[in-house]
Amino acid sequence: MLFGLPQTDAIFIDLGRVIGKDFMMTSLEQSTSAWMPGPILGIETSCDETAASVLAVDGAVLSNIISSQHAVHQRFGGVVPELASRAHIESIEDVSAAALQQTGLAWTDLTGIAVTQGPGLAGALLVGVNYAKALAYALNIPVVGVSHLEGHIASAWLQDPAFPLPCVVLVVSGGHTHLYYKEPSGHCRLLGATRDDAAGEAFDKGAQLLGLEYPGGPAIDRLARQGNPDAIVFPRSYLKKGSLDFSFSGLKTALLYRLQAMPEQSRISRAADFAAGYQEAIVAVLVDKAFAAVRSSGAHALAVVGGVSANSRLRALLQQRAVSEDLRLSLPPLAYCTDNAAMIAAAGRQTLRAGLRASLDIDAHASLSSPFAQASNQRL
Ligand code: KG4
Ligand code: ZN
Repeated sequence: MLFGLPQTDAIFIDLGRVIGKDFMMTSLEQSTSAWMPGPILGIETSCDETAASVLAVDGAVLSNIISSQHAVHQRFGGVVPELASRAHIESIEDVSAAALQQTGLAWTDLTGIAVTQGPGLAGALLVGVNYAKALAYALNIPVVGVSHLEGHIASAWLQDPAFPLPCVVLVVSGGHTHLYYKEPSGHCRLLGATRDDAAGEAFDKGAQLLGLEYPGGPAIDRLARQGNPDAIVFPRSYLKKGSLDFSFSGLKTALLYRLQAMPEQSRISRAADFAAGYQEAIVAVLVDKAFAAVRSSGAHALAVVGGVSANSRLRALLQQRAVSEDLRLSLPPLAYCTDNAAMIAAAGRQTLRAGLRASLDIDAHASLSSPFAQASNQRL
């Protein structure tokens, strides 16, 4: 048993219901013939969104379905792993079927499946990985494992396929604050990363201290619009000169001390100023370091991806700065910022095009960290 779930291959998936009664399994061995370019199904279950998406043969997004579990976790103030796994099991089939239905395609039109293999919650990942493997087996098509980080990075090209390389990519999510230099070959080189909390974690923990609902990032974003970012100024951690690393844990402590030093009435009446000042301290450092990375790397393009890239203040500052510094900026539409399966399908499509695929014994990797020390794909 893992996180209260049965063993990997015992997770029940009713493929008969998904694919329909006419479906005939033609072979017991998965085919190892080359990938036939065609529509790809992407599946994402690494945390608290069950998501499925279908990309067309040319990479266009035909559908992008996301079933959020926020209502499940809200009263706990954060994601409860066991509840997340159960909610994924309950909705994975319907979400995938809806993604396909929206395209008007049949299951048998799919030519490949891409699934998030890690990093993420082990039990949650298992649901997606097992569903993807079972479906790939039944349809006799290849499956590829995708790093969640690689998916976020690929989201920068979903709306803007001509976005240039080389570029700098800032990944800002609940688990990561990473700066990469993406070379013309597509290879990502790490330039800097957080030494403690991720930017999304800083938003979520700050929101908790302010008594806001989960998830904290969007709640701070909304409240901050009514506040003055200069009214309560928080420390900005730049670390040593020239460093492209981040540190957000001190900021959270500063917020705690400021709140403790104030009478409850002022805490309530000044909540919007707190939110605006706290948010400013996070986004100012993100923007400064991202542009510093662009300058020092010699790239002329910057992509900012991941859940925190949905932040309205961050987006506004990035856009202003990109204009004043005359560089190309890719800021994916909101639907591609937070977790989604279109980005997983996009990254998986590149893997399939490179002639790689996973074998059917791939497993979830909760701590898969680097986007290029890739999932278990190989030339089969
Ligand atoms: O990429 P994502 O959906 O999941 C992970 O891979 O972690 O990112 C989730 C994070 C959460 O910490 C959430 O609070 C933050 O993204 N987030 C935001 C906003 N929307 C989501 N943070 C700030 N402002 C937002 N509008
Ligand atoms: Zn994510």
